[in-house]
Amino acid sequence: MTKNALVTGASRGIGRAIALRLAADGAVVAVHHGGNEVAAKETVALIEAAGGQAFPVYARFGSDGAVDRLADAVTSAFDGLDVLVSNAGIGSHSRIGEVTEEELDRLLAINVKTPMLLIQRLLPALNDGGRVITVGSMASRIAVQSQIAYTVSKAAVEALAPTLANELGHRGITVNTVAPGPIRTDLTEQLLAIPEAAAGLTAMTALGRIGEPEDVAGVVGFLAGPDGRWITGRTLDVSGGTYLGPIG
Ligand SMILES: NC(=O)c1ccc[n+]([C@@H]2O[C@H](COP(=O)([O-])OP(=O)(O)OC[C@H]3O[C@@H](n4cnc5c(N)ncnc54)[C@H](OP(=O)(O)O)[C@@H]3O)[C@@H](O)[C@H]2O)c1
Repeated sequence: MTKNALVTGASRGIGRAIALRLAADGAVVAVHHGGNEVAAKETVALIEAAGGQAFPVYARFGSDGAVDRLADAVTSAFDGLDVLVSNAGIGSHSRIGEVTEEELDRLLAINVKTPMLLIQRLLPALNDGGRVITVGSMASRIAVQSQIAYTVSKAAVEALAPTLANELGHRGITVNTVAPGPIRTDLTEQLLAIPEAAAGLTAMTALGRIGEPEDVAGVVGFLAGPDGRWITGRTLDVSGGTYLGPIG
């Protein structure tokens, strides 16, 4: 039977790769974007060119009514949801002395509050045996002084999975977080354009390279598929073994 999937932040980067992967695995994918309609339509076109089915949905996280707007669009398009991937998110680059209240509010609204309320709103539509997958970050595992607010937001994302997994397990629904290390997307473009930064991040990685969006999408595809059925309430590190300890 065809599965229905929502991927938030699927217009670009990691979300796009996840949408492509789920569509290739046979899902009809709601491709969410936060305003970049052109990019969302590109994702849809890529899916259709590969023989899959998808459609764009818009909601600007952090603005009034975003949760209702997205949940209504998804529930009116789908007769039940099988896979919910909460991927949309933003970064920040402030040390503790630089973080403003406004920045913290925005980060928490987009990375934590909206995803949590969206999951809450979509639970009645989620089919038994379904999957909830959130995108955290390796940042919650290691200390990066210039990412303290982002780290806090991603730690909160990670904290959702165990409790939700216990809540939903009796319906056969699994809930997990994937925690990527540095991945080549628009979010990291500026950082990775600095040769020393790219080299430093590569050197910290056991597998010796910067990740690509498809490296994350493959793990999400596994968790969303039948072979992922016995994993729930966990965070899976998807970082190529970043910062495991001294190398060499
Ligand atoms: N790249 C990395 O190295 C890395 C590492 C660890 C974790 N992550 C996490 O992975 C996720 C995806 O990151 P990415 O690198 O793929 O980012 P990206 O290339 O910047 O893409 C971000 C996606 O989120 C959407 N989005 C951003 N702000 C939004 C808002 N206010 N409302 C609704 N949608 C919004 C964007 O939609 P529009 O196109 O409409 O703007 C886009 O689809 C994020 O949660 C990020 O924290 C990334």
